[in-house]
Amino acid sequence: MKKNLVTGGLGFIGSHLIDRLINSGEYVICLDDISSGDKRYLAKWEKNPKFRFVKGNVLDNHKIKFDNLWHLACPASPKDYLSDPILTARINFEGTLNILNMAKDQKAKVLYTSSSEVYGECEKMPQDENFLGLIRTTSPRSCYAHGKRIAETLCFDFQRKYNLEVKVARIFNTYGPGLKLKDGRVISNFINQALNQIPLSIRGDGNQTRSFCFISDIVDGLILLMDSDFKYPINLGNSYEISILNLAKLIDKKIFSNKQFYFEESTFYEPKRRCPSLALVGDVLKWKPKVNLNEGLNLTIESFKNENS
Ligand SMILES: NC(=O)c1ccc[n+]([C@@H]2O[C@H](COP(=O)([O-])OP(=O)(O)OC[C@H]3O[C@@H](n4cnc5c(N)ncnc54)[C@H](O)[C@@H]3O)[C@@H](O)[C@H]2O)c1
Repeated sequence: MKKNLVTGGLGFIGSHLIDRLINSGEYVICLDDISSGDKRYLAKWEKNPKFRFVKGNVLDNHKIKFDNLWHLACPASPKDYLSDPILTARINFEGTLNILNMAKDQKAKVLYTSSSEVYGECEKMPQDENFLGLIRTTSPRSCYAHGKRIAETLCFDFQRKYNLEVKVARIFNTYGPGLKLKDGRVISNFINQALNQIPLSIRGDGNQTRSFCFISDIVDGLILLMDSDFKYPINLGNSYEISILNLAKLIDKKIFSNKQFYFEESTFYEPKRRCPSLALVGDVLKWKPKVNLNEGLNLTIESFKNENS
């Protein structure tokens, strides 16, 4: 039976991926240092004889045998990745190098979770995989954005030099049950504020746009990508673009109907628009998102209410 190693498996996306792999009867090893992950998942998974947890950092060496490697470990919420930017850059560079060397030694198949942040401040919409990206080295976000770029670069160097089977998913903003209430990402912030009946706080004028993909769609895409022969970076996201102000209005209406918003200064170089081109992923993987924003928000809000109760 094939063994899956999931790094960052106690995080938001990793935990949904592990659920899916376990439910498909696969063998899963989760490597996580629990820096931002949630160890409550372990109680559910550890009953399964085909699950093993290794508490550890991707910066360290580990003797783990596996066939498929899903490399997700990285602080992903701005709150987490900005708290120690040098560590964030090291996890992306040294951590990914370490993990790729482990995979190379075992001739494993690798899927790396990159990010739409590699496109930086690009204004071209929708963003397709050929866009080269515009990222300042002076931006505080560069530890993450350039970190993802060097990690992708390493993936393709290992592909060329060692013939390692590597797949790179460029994930756009993802949301759903399992997001932590206080992790600082926009959907969790808004739902948390609305549930606490305080005005939703918007950075800048709220005209910046994002597109949000529901977690089950992202997991479908990751699994299809791992099973495919595709060798180049590929976008995974939802192309429905919404301004942050309209997102705030939508969430406020679903929970609180306060209609009052608090505008704060935009402090770091945020891209003005973010929207994936799904042409390549539609063509290569025959994948497109199934859950629309309205349905996805309802499911997420319900789960946040249960967490809170
Ligand atoms: N969630 C999104 O919207 C999104 C968008 C684009 C890309 N991604 C990428 O997907 C991956 C998962 O994102 P997420 O939202 O689940 O993040 P998350 O913060 O919820 O989970 C990250 C997990 O990695 C673990 N981790 C962090 N540093 C580690 C280290 N050095 N060694 C071992 N474990 C470590 C954390 O404890 C946590 O369990 C990340 O690589 C992220 O960059 C996420």
